[in-house]
Amino acid sequence: MAGLAVRVCASLALIAMASAIPITKLPMNGTVAVTGYKQGGAMQPPPAAPCTDVHFGSCPVLQASEDSLSVSYKFPAASVKPGSYVSLTACYTNFSTYDRPWRKPNAMDFRKSKDCPYKFATKLPAPSGNATWHVPEKIPDSTIFIRAWLWTEQADGTFKQTNYGRTKGNWQIQKINDIPNSMKGAVVACCLFSPIMVGCLMAYEKYVKKTI
Ligand SMILES: *[C@@H]1O[C@H](CO)[C@@H](O)[C@H](O)[C@H]1NC(C)=O
Ligand SMILES: *[C@@H]1O[C@H](CO)[C@@H](O)[C@H](O)[C@H]1NC(C)=O
Ligand SMILES: *[C@@H]1O[C@H](CO)[C@@H](O)[C@H](O)[C@H]1NC(C)=O
Repeated sequence: MAGLAVRVCASLALIAMASAIPITKLPMNGTVAVTGYKQGGAMQPPPAAPCTDVHFGSCPVLQASEDSLSVSYKFPAASVKPGSYVSLTACYTNFSTYDRPWRKPNAMDFRKSKDCPYKFATKLPAPSGNATWHVPEKIPDSTIFIRAWLWTEQADGTFKQTNYGRTKGNWQIQKINDIPNSMKGAVVACCLFSPIMVGCLMAYEKYVKKTI
């Protein structure tokens, strides 16, 4: 009985290993270009040069829940099969995943990666098309880019990601500032009068200091 369990486990592990693909093994011949972005209600043309910096504070800013980013994606016709479609996700840059296990990219299996949590379009036409990402309400201060996935039908009838691409540049996301100034004032005042309180430092970090 135990022997059977071991064999079943071993074959399940083998299946899991066989289907795990590191993203470095997946072809990357899609292109995703920014066609414009909406900032403070006004449509802006794409930046002259993509912002390749990953750090917070260095790229064009998009405000959570208000702004949007429009992209145009394209895959080589040769990589597309009948029934293929495209999905788009917004992904955190390595700067915004660093030290945050809940956003960790999975180097061994891109399908288990947690760095692209914002899926905003599925089943878009292949090989090319346009879509707009409305920056969600609940997104932290971070830097992001847009990734496109090409999905192709497999022999068993399921669809799998077979190709991908990303924007050349990165974007900075400004979260919604939902902490009232009176609250910040109270925290600062509290810290001035009781500077040795650990709780005060924590509150300062949480409510006043810009977090990324
Ligand atoms: C896609 O890129 C791979 C290398 O990653 C290359 O071998 C392949 O020929 C490309 N396919 C197409 C259709 O351009
Ligand atoms: C993040 O990516 C940038 C650009 O690709 C690279 O220069 C930098 O070393 C990376 N940082 C980390 C922590 O992996
Ligand atoms: C996508 O948008 C671009 C420019 O905004 C336009 O030239 C192109 O025709 C559009 N493509 C599709 C497939 O709609």
